[in-house]
Amino acid sequence: HMDEYEFENLTIDQHGPLAVLTLNRPKALNALNSATFGEMSEALDLIVDNAEIGALIITGAGEKAFVAGADISELNGLDGVYAGREVALAGQDVMSQISNLPIPVIAAINGFALGGGFELALACDIRVASPRARLGLPEVTLGVIPGFGGTQRLPRLIGAGRALDLLLTARQISAEEALQMGVVNYLADEPLAKAREVAESIVKNGPIAISLVKEAVRRGLDTTLDAGCEIEADLFGMAVATADFQEGTGAFLAKRKPEFKGE
Ligand code: CAA
Repeated sequence: HMDEYEFENLTIDQHGPLAVLTLNRPKALNALNSATFGEMSEALDLIVDNAEIGALIITGAGEKAFVAGADISELNGLDGVYAGREVALAGQDVMSQISNLPIPVIAAINGFALGGGFELALACDIRVASPRARLGLPEVTLGVIPGFGGTQRLPRLIGAGRALDLLLTARQISAEEALQMGVVNYLADEPLAKAREVAESIVKNGPIAISLVKEAVRRGLDTTLDAGCEIEADLFGMAVATADFQEGTGAFLAKRKPEFKGE
């Protein structure tokens, strides 16, 4: 069972088909250092290998922060082009591991989501934020730039104009403003509870279809409309070849609830 695994900087809990990964480094407001990235990668492998898990929620321990960014004391020790590039690539790998998961991933943003913390939320599929959360990309105030996908995922999500405003001014935005911008999907006083509710509404659906939707959107964002539509047609064909498709359409016609088996 997943709860048995011991990590230093995070916990993973399983609630039926839902897994919750909680970043937990209270002394640094859950900031991401290299040890935490290593543990996240291991935890994600465990989650993806567990066939019972249909959705993942990522959140931060405590009241104050989701994740306050990359660990600045670790960054401060970096020296030279190669060391910097390696840190960015290592963080990006974990962010891609998240966005490539075949199950939906929901960020429950319980407080500050700054720098790498904002980038972590952007690697998730859906974002739920506490009204008390604050989001921002303060990297330029530190003389650096986002390195965990922020300059790429944010403009894809909200457009280059709004992304550049946040990237260049480094201003913090409220959860309310993030909602208006389309950075977050939902505001909720209890973001973890709301994230669970959203996850429950997803795991009722066909799991293969869910993973194919994620793949279609992800691959489509990397290409032209025509090529993306071709990808969509290929994946549509794969969906149509599943037993879940027979079950879903058959259940509709028989006026009953479908029972998807992920086959
Ligand atoms: N890395 C390391 N330690 C951090 C940290 C971080 N990103 N964020 C906070 N901490 C530590 C603080 O140093 C402090 O430690 P001490 O108690 O030992 O002094 C502790 O967490 C509590 O933080 P504060 O005292 O600063 O708390 P606050 O309420 O005054 O402020 C905050 C909260 C606004 C979030 C502030 O902590 C802050 O600005 N943090 C840094 C945010 C930031 O710049 N993140 C971007 C990092 S760069 C990045 O992410 C690069 C990338 O993309 C690759």
